[in-house]
Amino acid sequence: MSIADRGDAVMMTNYPPRPLALVRGEGCWVWDDAGNRYLDLVAGIAVVTLGHGHPAPIAALAEQAAVLGHVSNLYWSEPAVALAERLCALSDLQRAFFCNSGAEANEAAIKLARRHGGTVGGPTKHGIVSLEGAFHGRTMGALAATWGEAKKAPFEPLPTGFRQIPRNDLAALRDAIGPDTAGVLIEPIQGEGGVNVIDDAFLAEARSLCDAHDALLIFDEVQTGIGRTGAWFAFQRSGVRPDAITLAKGLACGLPIGAVLARDLSSGFRPGDHGTTYGGSPAIAAGALATLKAVEDDDLIGNAQRMGERLASGLRAVPGVAAVRGAGLMLAVELSAGNAAAVMVGLRARGVLVNAVSDTALRLIPPLVIDADQVDLAIAAVHAVLQADG
Ligand SMILES: Cc1ncc(COP(=O)(O)O)c(C=O)c1O
Repeated sequence: MSIADRGDAVMMTNYPPRPLALVRGEGCWVWDDAGNRYLDLVAGIAVVTLGHGHPAPIAALAEQAAVLGHVSNLYWSEPAVALAERLCALSDLQRAFFCNSGAEANEAAIKLARRHGGTVGGPTKHGIVSLEGAFHGRTMGALAATWGEAKKAPFEPLPTGFRQIPRNDLAALRDAIGPDTAGVLIEPIQGEGGVNVIDDAFLAEARSLCDAHDALLIFDEVQTGIGRTGAWFAFQRSGVRPDAITLAKGLACGLPIGAVLARDLSSGFRPGDHGTTYGGSPAIAAGALATLKAVEDDDLIGNAQRMGERLASGLRAVPGVAAVRGAGLMLAVELSAGNAAAVMVGLRARGVLVNAVSDTALRLIPPLVIDADQVDLAIAAVHAVLQADG
C-alpha cells in the first residue's frame, strides 16, 4: 500500500488531499516515493531556511539531546537563555518567551496584550485589532484574529473582542484603535492571505495610534522572520518598531519552535500567567541557535535579497505573469489568466513545487540557500508552463 493510501486510512481528514509523499530532501531538492526529484519552492511553508538536510541544526540538536534534551520550564537551561540573548540582540527587543509553533506564539502575544491592557486600562481594554486577509494560526485565540469565515464559523463561539479591518486603510485603522484596544496584530507581509505587503505608512500610523492609546503593536513575523524578506525581521525594512514580534517557521529550520520577543513591559506577564512544557527545550533551542549561526555565517539574508530580486525580475518578464509582489524570498506571482491551481499542477509535473495562495496567485518561499541556477530553472519552468497553457 502507498504512503498516501495508508495515510488516507488513518489520518484525520482536516487537510485537503496531498498530491505527493516526500521521502528525502537535500538543499532545495526533495524526492517523492516514486523517486521523482523536485525543486522545492515551498520549503515546508517557509520553514526550511537552510535547505533540507543541513547538518548544523541536526548536529546541534543531537549533541544537546545527548547531554540534556528537555527540562521543562521549572528550571533554567543555557541553550534557551542563549537563544533569547541572540534573538533580543538581533531584534533590539528585550524579552523572549518560547513555545512550539506560530499559533502558540500568537496566543502568547494576544495574552501579553490583554495582560498589558488590563494592567494599564482595566478589564474593558481587551480589544485586539487585526487585518482582513490575516492568518495568525488555528488555535482559538489566533483563529479569532485570523480573517475568513470558512475557517472560523464551524468552531464558534470564538473568543470575543477581536475585529479585522481592511489592510492599508488608514481611516479604518483610526476608527478601530481606541481606548479599549489592548493590541494590534499585523503580519508586515501577509503570507497565507496572498503575500500582501502592508504599507509602511499604515504600519507607522498603527505605531502612533498604539502609542496614543497605550496598546501593544505586535508584528506576526512567523513567516516573514529570520531573513526571509532580506532582513532578519520584516519590521527592520519598514522602519516601524513594534512592541513585540512573534516567530516560528524559519527559526529552527524545521524543528518545532515558536517565540515571542517583546520590549521590557512593567505591565507584562507575571509569574504563573502563561507557560508551556516544551517551550525553549534545550535540544530545540540548540537547533535554533545553530540555524541562526548558519544564516549569519553563510550570508543567507544577503542571498535572500539577491536571489529574491533575480527571481522577481525574471518572473516579471514571463508572458502571462501579471505582477510579482513581496520581498526577498517571499514572493507571489499573480497570473494574468488567474489559473493558479492549474499552473501549480503543471509546475509539479515539470519538477517544481510551489503553492497556490489564491485562485490567481502562486507563492514562492524557497529555502534561503537557493542559488542562481535554481532560480533560473524556476523561472524557465513557469515560462514553459504558461506557454503550454496559453
Ligand atoms: C503569519 C503566520 N502566523 C501564524 C501561523 C501559524 O503557525 P503554525 O502553523 O506554526 O501554528 C502561520 C502559519 O502559516 C503564519 O503564516
